[in-house]
Amino acid sequence: MKKKMRVALGELAKKINWSYVEKIWMQNQPYVRQRSSKHKKSSKSSAKKAIFKEVDENGDFMVEKSSPDFASATFSLEREVGMNNLKNEDIRFRCSANRVGKKQCITSCLCANIFGGHVFDKAKWQFNLTEFNCHLMLFMMGKSIQVYLLLTNESLHRRNVVHFGITTLRPTICHGMLREAQISLGDIVLDPMAGSGSLSIEGAVSCQDRAFFIGTDLFAPAVRKCELNKDHLDKLIEKLNLKRLNLNFGMMDATDLPFRDNSIDSVVTDLPFGKRIKEVMLGTNMRELYFKSLKELSRVTRKWGVFLSCDKNSMKYAIDKLCSDGLKLWRFIHCRMINHGGSRVGIYLFQKYDYFLQCAEEHNRNKENIEA
Ligand SMILES: C[S@@+](CC[C@H](N)C(=O)[O-])C[C@H]1O[C@@H](n2cnc3c(N)ncnc32)[C@H](O)[C@@H]1O
Repeated sequence: MKKKMRVALGELAKKINWSYVEKIWMQNQPYVRQRSSKHKKSSKSSAKKAIFKEVDENGDFMVEKSSPDFASATFSLEREVGMNNLKNEDIRFRCSANRVGKKQCITSCLCANIFGGHVFDKAKWQFNLTEFNCHLMLFMMGKSIQVYLLLTNESLHRRNVVHFGITTLRPTICHGMLREAQISLGDIVLDPMAGSGSLSIEGAVSCQDRAFFIGTDLFAPAVRKCELNKDHLDKLIEKLNLKRLNLNFGMMDATDLPFRDNSIDSVVTDLPFGKRIKEVMLGTNMRELYFKSLKELSRVTRKWGVFLSCDKNSMKYAIDKLCSDGLKLWRFIHCRMINHGGSRVGIYLFQKYDYFLQCAEEHNRNKENIEA
């Protein structure tokens, strides 16, 4: 059985177009954040090294990471690394394998060993298990094997935010939520429950000068954290000579916003839920907070509402109450379930009812014009 597997792995290595893989690797290199050996040493203990400065009135810790090159983890800010003349000899690869299920006839270690050997023969790359710059990963799943070329050194969620709260959202999740809002040129996007500002920051960094982002929170320490994160990015931007971020933070109550009707294009927010944010802290019942904020947000928003929450009951209560009050404010589009720190949470997408009618009318008009 093991012999068969060896042969199969050899066949697989033969089938792969290694010069094409090389091309992908070379194109990707300028975008890979190079880990310094200093960072490697500190990465394991980065959580321990975080400086807990003070506790704010939300119970959030004002944390600043002390990792030396954490600032350069700002992935989405384009950086010129200057690695254009790469050659085949520059590749130092390692191969690892993961098993899904336990029915495979060889261990992951042996699988990586055999496949690595075949890559060495076929692609003529140098291998280096410790100082590698090219990482191949095999996934053994049932009877199939998939080969991946890893394009990043570490998770993309390590970017932009350096001052954390206990509920800071990962930039990767923020990015997904912002995509749900279908942001277009010139849009104004609001996060009315900003916390440490990760959603607005991710939006401003990704959209650059094509949209404007506003982050607000009810509590002063949260707004201060947002400002600290922005200051950090501003310094980095100045250093890299990039355009300033279209981003502003302020202190506001999401249930009573000082904005005109329909003045915000989309609202993208992470609603409070779970044990970390208690109702006592907020001074209100969670269900009522959901209802009041969804109602107020529908007043100021023109197009889309993207809300992340784990609290299905409060969400259902708020939607039911809005409907029972005869208010046709939000049109539910879908809810996508995601993994957020080990728990399943929902990302709810709503469309403003008036915007839906406007789009439908426009669609019908276009259809008529085409038919005519
Ligand atoms: C789940 S946290 C948001 C975390 C944020 N996405 C981040 O990455 O840090 C919810 C936030 O809502 C804020 N909040 C609660 N009630 C509010 C209200 N009535 N108006 C504005 N913000 C409120 C809390 O201060 C808290 O920071």
